[in-house]
Amino acid sequence: MEARTMVIVDDDRKTLDFLAAFLQYRDFRVLQFSDPSEALRQVAKEEVILVLADVRMPRMSGTGFVKELKSLHPDAAIIAYSSYSEEPFVAQLLQAGALFFLEKPFDLKKLEKCIAQALEHHELQADLFHKKPAPKNRSLLGNIVGESDKMLSMFEMLEKVAASDSTVLIQGESGTGKELVAHAIHDLSNRRPARFVAVNCAAIPDDLLESELFGHVKGSFTGAVATRMGKFEAADKGTLFLDEIGDMKPNLQVKLLRVLQNREVEPVGAPRPKKVDVRIIAATNQNLEQLTAAKAFREDLFYRLSVIPIRLPSLRERGSDVELLMNSFLQKFNMLNQKKVTGFDQEATRILTSYPWPGNVRELENLVERLVIVVGEGLITPRDLPERYRSTTSVFTSPQPALPAGPFSLHSAVEDFETNLILQALEKSGGNKKEAARLLNVKRTTLIEKLKKRNLMGAHPDSDAA
Ligand SMILES: Nc1ncnc2c1ncn2[C@@H]1O[C@H](COP(=O)(O)OP(=O)(O)OP(=O)(O)O)[C@@H](O)[C@H]1O
Ligand SMILES: [Mg+2]
Repeated sequence: MEARTMVIVDDDRKTLDFLAAFLQYRDFRVLQFSDPSEALRQVAKEEVILVLADVRMPRMSGTGFVKELKSLHPDAAIIAYSSYSEEPFVAQLLQAGALFFLEKPFDLKKLEKCIAQALEHHELQADLFHKKPAPKNRSLLGNIVGESDKMLSMFEMLEKVAASDSTVLIQGESGTGKELVAHAIHDLSNRRPARFVAVNCAAIPDDLLESELFGHVKGSFTGAVATRMGKFEAADKGTLFLDEIGDMKPNLQVKLLRVLQNREVEPVGAPRPKKVDVRIIAATNQNLEQLTAAKAFREDLFYRLSVIPIRLPSLRERGSDVELLMNSFLQKFNMLNQKKVTGFDQEATRILTSYPWPGNVRELENLVERLVIVVGEGLITPRDLPERYRSTTSVFTSPQPALPAGPFSLHSAVEDFETNLILQALEKSGGNKKEAARLLNVKRTTLIEKLKKRNLMGAHPDSDAA
């Protein structure tokens, strides 16, 4: 395998030397360029993982350079820097694909941290781009149940994410497990001994959210009767989960951005900021890219938060997970409610596995809870399902029969079709004709008539009690 390469681009010799020395102890090949076009030409065939580039250079625009680099090396982590840090310029760079922007002269601690995060980012990106096969026999990570390919690669990714300290942005439809995943990341990380603190940004009135997050000192505003610690401080050394981040108002977005940049909070009314050591995980079910494009969410904050973006798949995209989750929730609610529901019958399983689950895992969990309580014991059948689920039932969702090329009789084809469904109903009812008739929605006498006509009266021993 070729050496993993780091690239430095700067027209200033001194900075090149300085950065090269800074990167030297790491296990990589370091290439230096004073000309951006030359750099693009030379690195095309390298495995570039990290690029440090001055983005105010002669002969090429910074954003143009970042874009071209990204198209050559989508996995590469780019750290752009300049002594010029006007807002629109920085936003453009980040949008072009730079992971971080640093101001010159360098703050060495920041530089070090950005490089560490960039390397992590690269590893995660590379894993996503070239998916490795997931380990087998895995259907659980923490409390997260799943065995679909999507969830297995998610598990693998979560373990790596947990080992890092980078900011995570979790996006996904409502009920897909965003909070669960945030918890799992904390629990798998070495922040586990400290607290996991969750704040729902949508549930707290705008005017209270600031002091909720950052705290306040006594008397700093009407109602501030005592000094209060904010959630950031409460989560010190631990993880702060900012849920529904898409609902945060612009003025607070600015303040949050500042905290993320400086790693210190300013309680309302406090004379000086306080250092905090907090890992941030943000989540939203809104499309944050769209909100950002519509200027409802700050672009710079969006990029700060999405150092590691995680997109949770909807339940519809998870295939066999539906059945796995149905049975896992069944066990859970049987235990919690001391019930003895044994499972779902074939038809109920078929209905539920083909249902689109707009409310995702939460909807499935709620349904199973209700079914366990209502049904209490034995098998869950389609009849137990609320109307909404049953209305998707149709035999025509089964493969459509095709018109045979040879001799054919509609009459006997319909007979066969009927016979097949009758036998399935008997099978399901364990031979109970009353129950089978109910499943077919015909009178018991009608069913018996049809069975007699087909000489099937003995096919299933009649277990009717009556
Ligand atoms: N993969 C999973 N395995 C087991 N339980 C799950 C899974 N995903 C979600 N759940 C459960 O489904 C419910 C909803 O999950 P969660 O609250 O994490 O969703 P969310 O994405 O935060 O939803 P919202 O956007 O509505 O806040 C929770 O009770 C959670 O425990
Ligand atoms: Mg949630």
